[in-house]
Amino acid sequence: MPRALFIADSLQINLKRNCHLNMRILKSSKYKTLSSRKSSSRKAAILPTVLVHGGAGHIRDDWVKCVKFGVKGAAQRGYKVLQKTGSVLDAVEQAVRVLEMDIHFNAGYGSVLTVDGDVEMDAAIMAGANLEGGCVTMARDITHPISLARRVMEKTNYRFLAGDGAMSLARNEGFEILPKGALVTKASQKLLQIFKTTNTDTLYNVTPGTVGAVAIDACGNVAAATSTGGLTGKLSGRIGDSPLLGAGTYADNKSGAVSATGHGESIMRYNLSSRVLALVQHKDYAIQQAAEQILKQMTKRFNQTGGLIAIDHRGQLGICFTTECMSWAYQQANELHCGVTVGEDEVEIVNETSE
Ligand code: GLY
Repeated sequence: MPRALFIADSLQINLKRNCHLNMRILKSSKYKTLSSRKSSSRKAAILPTVLVHGGAGHIRDDWVKCVKFGVKGAAQRGYKVLQKTGSVLDAVEQAVRVLEMDIHFNAGYGSVLTVDGDVEMDAAIMAGANLEGGCVTMARDITHPISLARRVMEKTNYRFLAGDGAMSLARNEGFEILPKGALVTKASQKLLQIFKTTNTDTLYNVTPGTVGAVAIDACGNVAAATSTGGLTGKLSGRIGDSPLLGAGTYADNKSGAVSATGHGESIMRYNLSSRVLALVQHKDYAIQQAAEQILKQMTKRFNQTGGLIAIDHRGQLGICFTTECMSWAYQQANELHCGVTVGEDEVEIVNETSE
């Protein structure tokens, strides 16, 4: 049974260990809810926030710096876009686009490979204000499946397109179609080689992560976006949880927004994102407690791990994983937070509009 590791527990440990961090955490209202299951009924102003993840699992030691750099850059980009356009959808799309261009993440350029050595990508985006969503699967030869998912939502009467149909929309919408194999990296080829010579459980722990973002504006509008290359060595046509609304991605202004990462076959069967938000909406749970409870239950039920990031309708954050690591970062006003291991919360003060 995988060890259940939760950031909330380790934040309590950090409270004892690190005076500086302690002060920050005590000042921050979002962490006050960690010790109580119920959310605070006191109405507080919502701080616009963009929170991203770079996937749950194991992060190669020599990649940790790059992964942190990547998630911080994505959070900053999303936050800057939120300030500029005021759109949470723009914010999550642009944050995910940064990660789709970075080979240290399993999305866009850097996606892991099917058993035949090809890239087939899944993505979804959702707006909490009107429950609009767009999803794509088996997208090929484009760098930004997340933008294609948004086009499905905004330019078609449908909400989910697959394979050739999705690619046809990409061409019609002027997406650059890359030469076959352009998204394949040396790292993903090496992983496929390992897949073919060892067992898949070993591989799951070294695969780079799915990416995602959630955001909220000062009015309480939320959005979520998730993008992935799926699993190394997957059969062509395998679809994970990421493009399934309610499983890997969900957003509703009445409850919040979630982007999940981890074992897709478990996350989709458990309907992970919806279950977390249901506890917030119907049982008044604090988002961190809801995330911990549901993820812990999923891990126990399927003996499979995962992680998620979430923002509830009050602007409180949830960051939770049952894997060894999950990279995440968020920007809120001029604070840029980042972590990879349990309890890690590096804080930088940044210019609110800088990237
Ligand atoms: N969670 C990503 C996938 O399983 O495809």
